[in-house]
Amino acid sequence: MQPTILIAEGNNSHRQLYTTQFDNNRYSLLFAGDGKEVLQTILSQHPDIVLFDSSLPDMPNTTVIEQIIAQFNDGFPYLPHVVVNSAEGAVRKMLERKEPLLSAGDSVRIETILHSNVSPDYEIARIITVPDKSSGAHLLALRDVIQDVLQSPRYVLVREVKELIHELGDSPENIQYRSQLESFLHEFLFLNIKFRVLRDMGLTARSENALFAYRTLVEEHMPTLRWHSRDTAEYSITLARMMGLESDEIDQLRYAGYYHDIGQLPAREFYSMSEVFSIDDKRRKFLPLHPRTGRILLEALGVTDTDLLALVESHHANYNGSGYPTTFFRDSIPMHGILRIAEMIDSVKRKKQHIPDDQRMPLEADSIAHIKQELHRYGGTFFNPDAANTALRYLDAYHA
Ligand SMILES: [Fe+2]
Ligand SMILES: [Fe+2]
Repeated sequence: MQPTILIAEGNNSHRQLYTTQFDNNRYSLLFAGDGKEVLQTILSQHPDIVLFDSSLPDMPNTTVIEQIIAQFNDGFPYLPHVVVNSAEGAVRKMLERKEPLLSAGDSVRIETILHSNVSPDYEIARIITVPDKSSGAHLLALRDVIQDVLQSPRYVLVREVKELIHELGDSPENIQYRSQLESFLHEFLFLNIKFRVLRDMGLTARSENALFAYRTLVEEHMPTLRWHSRDTAEYSITLARMMGLESDEIDQLRYAGYYHDIGQLPAREFYSMSEVFSIDDKRRKFLPLHPRTGRILLEALGVTDTDLLALVESHHANYNGSGYPTTFFRDSIPMHGILRIAEMIDSVKRKKQHIPDDQRMPLEADSIAHIKQELHRYGGTFFNPDAANTALRYLDAYHA
């Protein structure tokens, strides 16, 4: 599926220019002649980007953008990325008074980016200043911006989810799954606001306050995760100590243990179905996206600790590269893949022992036997062999 770009442009000869200049094998172009048509096309075609390059006959660009955001606030999940050429100052002014505009629904924050400055923060609109229309460089500059937006990790992920939705089509049997994916798209953007409390409490700096805020937030939105997070952190710490990691690394692992499944939050309905383990092939495609989602969310919250980000992103990476994401394997998986094993230990325990959400419960013999079997079978393929051996030693000691 090609990225779809909706261009707000009524003039036919201008439209022709976009069509010739933009590589049509790469993008599919849509046009809308006025603001009303822009809004309708967003609802029906779900474009990835909307480009405002000139003024429209029926309403100012600023009004159209406000209405796009209002549509999203009302629950419409397909928020296109808005690219605005701000030759006139109105657009910039409107986006700069973003807080009053957006606090009404307290839902979306626009991080404006002037002159294409790169920010790791969430960005739903980009204001650009490109060379004058009469210059040949105009369309080239626009094309670069569009390319850049589409390559951002967040947009790549959004597009993957849109593709899954597209594959599902309209058939009634897929309705539930489809709506879970759509609410993921919506939440993925919403969470930045809900999670702002984490940033305010110092998530960026491995702080206890942020951890507390996270656990409170998770308890409210996805209770099962709270205890799984804590126990994963604790198993990680134990294994890390046994492997002789430095205290700073252990600390990092502890935070990663708590935050590792943060990427499940925008799709908590999906992940709360305990049948995730016996899920069908169609749904299985969505599972691998949560570690990347987690990384993007943490980055959006201001976490810059690249080791912590890599830990979260790689918590389902297999030693032989067969896990997800596949970009991690062998030594590129941080801290000997301890998190992967700690996570497995707790998942097996919770599944086998049907542990209520709010309980601390030791490993039972049944779980231990199962986990050992996994470690023996997949040590050196899925699991880092040293970490797998350490986990076996731990379980033996535990069992004794
Ligand atoms: Fe997990
Ligand atoms: Fe996970």
